[in-house]
Amino acid sequence: MRIVLVGPPGAGKGTQAAYLAKNLAIPHISTGDLFRANISQGTELGKKAKSYMDAGDLVPDEVTIGMAKDRMSQPDAVNGFLLDGFPRNVSQAEALDGMLTAEGMRLDAVLDLEVPEDEVVKRIAGRRICRNDSSHVFHVSYSPPKTEGVCDVCGGELYQRQDDSEETVRTRLDVYHTQTEPIIDYYKAQGLVVTISALGKVAEVTQRAMDALPGKG
Ligand code: AP5
Ligand code: ZN
Repeated sequence: MRIVLVGPPGAGKGTQAAYLAKNLAIPHISTGDLFRANISQGTELGKKAKSYMDAGDLVPDEVTIGMAKDRMSQPDAVNGFLLDGFPRNVSQAEALDGMLTAEGMRLDAVLDLEVPEDEVVKRIAGRRICRNDSSHVFHVSYSPPKTEGVCDVCGGELYQRQDDSEETVRTRLDVYHTQTEPIIDYYKAQGLVVTISALGKVAEVTQRAMDALPGKG
């Protein structure tokens, strides 16, 4: 299965992707996590991405598309993948289509997570992530770690993402509405969009997603 996950910042894409990727036995590819790993390793790519991410803006396509293509070309992604945070504008969606078509492949579904803005703001405000791996995600009230400030998965230190400040979240939501939402219509024209509510318990949302995906549930 080749799936794109779309939804506003804080919708729970990363949280759901971890469970869905496991259930479907496909790799979870998050461009946000790839950028954060590059930043913590101090790579050239990380240096290029950092200022855009800190401001809540999109990293330029010429950096992002190459990184995403590289990751999708790795052996574990031959039989499918779950893309989280990519594509994020119409030109990235066109680049992805071009890449898949060249390989004789196509997407199976675009899973659109719907969450009201006030809930997104609460989810982001309480989010804490792990220094060792930004895909280890917690929430101070909704999914607290067993020990405050310590990652349950690897024992790493938990911290608040720099782009989770109130002001930057506002920019990220604007960017989502103006640049990312248009990809939903782009994919609707291809009959690929499945929209579900991402409200409720994490496990309920995962079940809803599994039921909604084509050929599943
Ligand atoms: P990215 O890391 O992709 O951030 P995002 O899209 O803003 O999404 P988030 O990570 O904020 O949220 P999420 O939906 O994954 O929610 P989560 O599961 O953590 O991108 C960051 C930046 O990188 C961008 O701003 C941009 O600069 C750059 N970038 C990335 N991709 C790019 C691209 N393709 N092109 C250009 N630039 C790009 O959940 C949020 C919180 O809610 C957590 O605390 C979680 O525990 C909690 N939670 C989750 N589900 C539930 C639930 N059901 N109930 C209660 N709490 C819940
Ligand atoms: Zn961790």
